[in-house]
Amino acid sequence: MFGEPHIHVEECESTQLLLDASLPEGAVATAAHQTGGRGRLGRTWEDAAGTALLCSVLLKPPPQRRGAELTLVGGLATAETVERALGRAAQLKWPNDVLVDGRKLAGGLAELRDGAVVLGVGVNVNQTVEQLPADARTPPASLRTVDGRTRELEPLLGDLLRSLEDAYRVWLARGLGALHERIAARDCLRGRDVSVNGVGGRAAGISADGRLELSTESGIVLVESGEVAVFVA
Ligand code: BTN
Repeated sequence: MFGEPHIHVEECESTQLLLDASLPEGAVATAAHQTGGRGRLGRTWEDAAGTALLCSVLLKPPPQRRGAELTLVGGLATAETVERALGRAAQLKWPNDVLVDGRKLAGGLAELRDGAVVLGVGVNVNQTVEQLPADARTPPASLRTVDGRTRELEPLLGDLLRSLEDAYRVWLARGLGALHERIAARDCLRGRDVSVNGVGGRAAGISADGRLELSTESGIVLVESGEVAVFVA
């Protein structure tokens, strides 16, 4: 069961560093505050102490599954958790951002550690507008800035872990294709003009194995990883 054991600290550099492959699958680390929170592509992930859900989960997928797909598995589970909390739709911006109304509310980060995967999820929960980073690439939001409510973090963590464990078990048993419909339904890039790793095109969807499909002048290009910039008309 995800959450056994559960290591909680008041402060650490990053919850990603509290887990290693000696722990059982499903081990979870949380913190009230990170001094060096990590985002994708070497970026930082900021929090105001006590206001955000900051958690990492240890996963030990078998070698026949593509670990890179776990970013999307985590993103889907996070988006569905956010939706249950808010009672409204959330979107996925490939590969790891969870947005509501175009604002980033949560992000995920999958890192390899000794053959295991540490999947980190950060959800902005109780931050006020002033407590959110002012210089973020995508305008940020928290559950509180969306609906004005403050929430306890513990029940939200429980819901996220259940959601993540369910999605992970489906992925283990049947692959990403079995989650594809739920992922595609939340894909906010599809149909938009974007640039990824210097290549421009129209986002055509997310493939059954989690790659971004980019329709370019020379045909469909499948993008493995990268940062998507959206052209605003
Ligand atoms: C991103 O959007 O770039 C990914 C953000 C991931 C942040 C979470 S917070 C918990 C865990 N610990 C970290 O240092 N990062 C992840």
